[in-house]
Amino acid sequence: MAATPDLDPDLLEKVINLAKRRGFIFQSAEIYGGFRSTYDYGPLGVNLLRNVKQAWWRSMVQMRSDIVGIDAAILGPPAVWAASGHLETFTDPLVDCLKCKERWREDKIDGVCPNCGSTQFTAPRAFNLMFKTQAGPVEGEGSTAYLRPETAQGIFTNFANVLSTVRKKPPFGIAQVGKSFRNEITPQNFVFRTREFEQMEMEYFVPPADAEEWYRYWIDTRLKWYIDLGIPDEMLQLHEHAKEDLSHYSKGTTDVEFLFPWGFDELEGIANRGDYDLNQHAKHSGVALDYFDQSTKERYTPYVIEPAAGATRAMMAFLLAAYHEDIVEGETRSVLRLDWRLAPYQVAVLPLSKKPELETVSTEVLSILQPHFMCDYDVTQSIGKRYRRQDEVGTPFCITVDFETLNDRAVTVRDRDTTGQTRVPIAELLHHLWNITAPI
Ligand code: GAP
Repeated sequence: MAATPDLDPDLLEKVINLAKRRGFIFQSAEIYGGFRSTYDYGPLGVNLLRNVKQAWWRSMVQMRSDIVGIDAAILGPPAVWAASGHLETFTDPLVDCLKCKERWREDKIDGVCPNCGSTQFTAPRAFNLMFKTQAGPVEGEGSTAYLRPETAQGIFTNFANVLSTVRKKPPFGIAQVGKSFRNEITPQNFVFRTREFEQMEMEYFVPPADAEEWYRYWIDTRLKWYIDLGIPDEMLQLHEHAKEDLSHYSKGTTDVEFLFPWGFDELEGIANRGDYDLNQHAKHSGVALDYFDQSTKERYTPYVIEPAAGATRAMMAFLLAAYHEDIVEGETRSVLRLDWRLAPYQVAVLPLSKKPELETVSTEVLSILQPHFMCDYDVTQSIGKRYRRQDEVGTPFCITVDFETLNDRAVTVRDRDTTGQTRVPIAELLHHLWNITAPI
């Protein structure tokens, strides 16, 4: 394995600044002083986040005939969370500092209050992380609802619906991408741990005897997904949980960890959940959640292998891994070396000047590219400054329309990483870009 790279000690601050300055991520409700640990995704961030989720969906659903998708409700009744075990066990140990009264998650502070340095705390108590709310206009027991703390349960509760509507048999999977909510005691590190976040989860149902093999398969497949999308493999590692650290449902869990500025930390968990969830929901709902294999005449409850990733956390990792500074023409530039599939804009069309004849051809070029690529169009400032602005947000290709274009009907394609430039006829531009970004 390659040596762990040394990170710029200011990396986190630089990426947070860039994210704010260039419209990736804003503090939520900022004009009212901000809402702690909640973030809004701006014009660039929403594209990057959509591309992360799209890349996941493509590899997990589109490119496979054994996995289908769903989109389940965020609000759920207590019965679901009683069956899943979340009402009872989805807790973190909460302590109060006896000196400054701040509240902390006991397992994250090593016995010392990060605020005042005191080592005196209350005894830990179990704090449930689910957001409780009320559905309908009448308050009371019957109206209690919860915001889902994971997307997984909506998949288990729909197991029978999916099985009876699509012609699948184990091994097969159900994938879902969407928001989850956890009342984290200490949200921290930008969008790494927030109270509202997005998950990308897939539950893969297998015959129990094959569970271990599929568990290993999914660990390997998920690790490769991050590498394929540009995270250097020395910034990733696998961490297998010790038996005593496993969640209440797990027979084995391995995390894909990323080298965040504070050290390796969880990016995604791959768990062998056994038959825990289907059995629990079958028991609590009274609906059979098993599978009858026609060929062997056997009825069994499938085991579940679950790769569970965070979309917002993955987006942060892609930003951190892509951020570079290098010297171009004697000047330091910051550049996001994002894979073209993730970049907020794949192409920027830049007329050399605001002259109407250049703008006319530029809009023509833009209309050729827009149906196929997410494009930016920028006429302000010098061309050098515009290249830097596009480098900084990770745009892989800048198309410059200059006065030559009016004669030769060709444009310059500039590569973000090499800064190399190629002259390409407008008539061949689309194919030229398709060739470089050939579908993977
Ligand atoms: N269904 C299993 C499950 O939810 P998890 O390890 O609790 O497992 C899966 O969550 C992934 O969701 C994590 O690896 C992480 O990427 C993301 N995640 C979890 N809590 C998060 C939070 N508070 N903020 C941002 N992402 C979070």
